[in-house]
Amino acid sequence: MEAMTFVLFGSTGDLAKRKIFPALYNLFVDSKMPEAFSVIGLGRKSFNDATFQTYVEQALEEFSRNKPENRESVDAFLRSIRYHILNVDDTAGYQELLKIVETREAELNIPQNRMFYMSVAPEFFEVIATNIKDSGLGTTTGWKRLIIEKPFGHDLSSARQLNEQLSKTFAEEEIFRIDHYLGKPMVQNLESLASTNPAIQALWNNRHIANVQITAAETVGVEERAGYYDHTGAIRDMMQNHMLQVLMMTAMTLPAGHTVDDVRSHKKHIAQSLRSISKEDAHKHIVRAQYSAGESNGKALASYQDEPGITPGSMTDTFIAARVWVDDFSWQGVPFYIRTGKRMKEKSTRIVIEFKDVMKNEDICVACDAQPNMLVISINPDQKITLQLNHKNVITGRLEPMTAEFKVGSDNEPEAYELLIYDALRGDATFFAHWDEVELSWQWVQPILEAFADNDLPIHHYAAGTYGPEASNELLAVEGFQWLKDQ
Ligand code: BG6
Repeated sequence: MEAMTFVLFGSTGDLAKRKIFPALYNLFVDSKMPEAFSVIGLGRKSFNDATFQTYVEQALEEFSRNKPENRESVDAFLRSIRYHILNVDDTAGYQELLKIVETREAELNIPQNRMFYMSVAPEFFEVIATNIKDSGLGTTTGWKRLIIEKPFGHDLSSARQLNEQLSKTFAEEEIFRIDHYLGKPMVQNLESLASTNPAIQALWNNRHIANVQITAAETVGVEERAGYYDHTGAIRDMMQNHMLQVLMMTAMTLPAGHTVDDVRSHKKHIAQSLRSISKEDAHKHIVRAQYSAGESNGKALASYQDEPGITPGSMTDTFIAARVWVDDFSWQGVPFYIRTGKRMKEKSTRIVIEFKDVMKNEDICVACDAQPNMLVISINPDQKITLQLNHKNVITGRLEPMTAEFKVGSDNEPEAYELLIYDALRGDATFFAHWDEVELSWQWVQPILEAFADNDLPIHHYAAGTYGPEASNELLAVEGFQWLKDQ
């Protein structure tokens, strides 16, 4: 891997502490960082190089999967780190930053490969990109790249505006838009699940699949993020990005030996094939809801309205479910049901593929007690694939379901941020969101946002600590399905 400089905006923030520095350190320990590299942390807090290095070490102590135990290796890692106080609006500050970057490049004798990472609030994205360009930081003799965190826009037009701004400084192939769901090993596995398993590939279409269910249920509430969440809701926080990305990854059908471009063009094709839901029809296909007071394991849970910082009377969705149709040759007629919510009964992220029950149709019923075959891809907290088939119990003579479980992954395996940062450092964009996908996702979501804003559809309520509102079950019942029993 080529030597480079890693310029981190927002280096004293929560994400840097919990994810980014641990990821860099773990890559370093696993010999996945370049031989020579320089890390420049930027922020408004008053650290110097030494105090910042201590701060980073504490972050590793607390959050890294490899603890900073080997003194030699920790010191070698920390020696690569410098800190610079930067107010993102201050153009002169970028000139100083440029000097630091160049000085370190000269000291380490490394090429001008520069990775810029924006781990800052979205209102700073544009000003930082402009200053990278105007200061000359972005004029390099090597490569330059940008890693950017969500939210990528607040709606379709702000996303377009942001992209236009960024593209004045960075070309599309230089922009790595992080969607951390694409860094989850089981989501990455979807790339090869069908394409390398003929037994699955043969079934991965509307002739055999009855419906697909994608769930991302969380037990946490809004925590300390009321200010952000109350303007965002589940639709922007999870649906527009993570849920639609997982849908694209599930529905893409790749040839064996595919390339990065194949992945991107197949995902784009799926995004283009999403049947649009008009503002007027949103109520037929979308269920939005908010949690009311409830309990979990005997502990009382406050309602969303009573969480600190929530605007009284807020109509923000903490749960959303949708029926999505993918109008392409492989998926025509297969409903994709997606749902995500806060304060649900359990933390569970999974994809359920329910196969058609060919033994049952309207006229005949052979083996009527058979259950549909199911393939469950569990993403979080367990990583496994479960296949449910039927077998005959020789004592009762009845059919009963049986399951086989394939566990994936191991202890102490790399986290999403390690996998993603490693890919970005190598210039591999497979598991990053391309602008086309982001724009198409916003296009699909936009009429629903407008329906929400105009209160065209009701806001249901569900008790905190449950599986969401009854209305989300009705969404599936229309086609005669139900969510795979919540465990
Ligand atoms: C983030 C959202 O992108 O994803 C959070 O902003 C959410 O609200 C989180 O809690 C869920 O991620 P994970 O990996 O825990 O499923």
